[in-house]
Amino acid sequence: MKNGMKKLIALLLVVSFLSACGKKPEPTAKPTEVTETPAPTEETTPDATPTPTTAGRTHSAEIDAMTLKDRYKDSFKIGVALPANTFRVSMRTEVVKEQFNSFTFENEMKPDSLLNRDATQKGYPETNTEPVLNFGGIKSGLEFAKENGLGVRGHTLCWYSQTPAWFFTVDYQAGSPLCSREVMIARLESYIKQVMTYCQENYPGLIYAWDVVNEAVDIGTGDENGIRKSKNNWYATIGPDYIEFAFAFARKYSDGTADLYYNDYGCAGKKADIVRILAPVKEAGNIDGIGIQCHLSVGDNMRNAVYRTAKYFTDAGYKVQITELDIGTSQKGDRADLVQGMKYKSLFQFIEEAKRNGEINIDSVTVWGLYDTISWRSGENPLLFRMDGGIVKKEAWYGAMQDPNITSME
Ligand code: G3I
Repeated sequence: MKNGMKKLIALLLVVSFLSACGKKPEPTAKPTEVTETPAPTEETTPDATPTPTTAGRTHSAEIDAMTLKDRYKDSFKIGVALPANTFRVSMRTEVVKEQFNSFTFENEMKPDSLLNRDATQKGYPETNTEPVLNFGGIKSGLEFAKENGLGVRGHTLCWYSQTPAWFFTVDYQAGSPLCSREVMIARLESYIKQVMTYCQENYPGLIYAWDVVNEAVDIGTGDENGIRKSKNNWYATIGPDYIEFAFAFARKYSDGTADLYYNDYGCAGKKADIVRILAPVKEAGNIDGIGIQCHLSVGDNMRNAVYRTAKYFTDAGYKVQITELDIGTSQKGDRADLVQGMKYKSLFQFIEEAKRNGEINIDSVTVWGLYDTISWRSGENPLLFRMDGGIVKKEAWYGAMQDPNITSME
């Protein structure tokens, strides 16, 4: 190869190395729009599930007469993720009131739902560090919770996804350059202050946990410390310490009635990294717990994915919540139903037993959806209920209730 060519390649390599040295992006950098996250799943192992018999199953009449929230009233809250339109559908609200004592807005409490784009953009530059929010999308749900004695998990204050790209630009216009670190820190503080203050002033004590930061640990494709960089405009503007800023602001504006959580999926495979990355936040006293999402499949080992992870975080001094539980199955039919029920039973057995003997400090378990066809994983029928002329209990529900007629399967 000619010398000139070698010099050119060497120069290009040097240039590309410098540009990859994590330097803050030049002002011409543009934010990336992220609206959907890939379907996060915990570690999955080949489906080693034995083929169970499905001959004439019966359920315990005692269990059938109970509800999820009654069954676990001495152990932990039982919650459900709900789309906002739920509160207009009495068939859904009746089941929610009967079975659950907590809920999470599936989408409506995320930044892309609460940020008022028009008002923020029209108000610029006065809104430069004070974005305008609109709480209209969460009022009906918060009123429902207040009227029916349900607690609410606040999901989520700071996430790289479902947070519009315009929110990170110099003038709030899509396509403009990223704003400065200082401005973005101020916007983050204003956003967190406005959301927490609205809920605390209008619905005091209703929110019992905030997912302050969601899914910031990305081992493998994250930065040298495993913090998510890809499509993360928080990282691109503020830098990796956006995590610490978010928790510091949440603690600053909290009235103390809600615990502050870090929430993530795939925790079993990155639990030590999560604890390492959160260490400065814990040191500052700005975090109370870690949310284990638990987007699982029937091929997963429940003891490893849930019990061992929850114990690890408890031993590290954190409260724990299961925040987005669903157990998907690629199979259809009666046997698939039964296997799923067996997995739900083993999961609830482990966590109830570990809670009772003090091994895990868990106070809430939330399933990520009310019934299969409205699940984000509807193709895998991952939930406790299905729609069948009405909202109907599945084997998964009986498993979650630990029906003695269902054997558990780790
Ligand atoms: O609201 C729009 C609607 O106007 C539009 O017509 C429609 C079709 O484009 O999209 C609707 O927005 C969708 C939104 O759900 C509300 O239904 C988005 O496209 C869709 O991406 C979004 O999916 C949500 C997903 O987060 C986005 O990342 C799922 O419902 C929600 O279950 C899921 O939940 C996340 C947790 O927040 C964090 N942990 C992972 C979990 C699963 O991804």
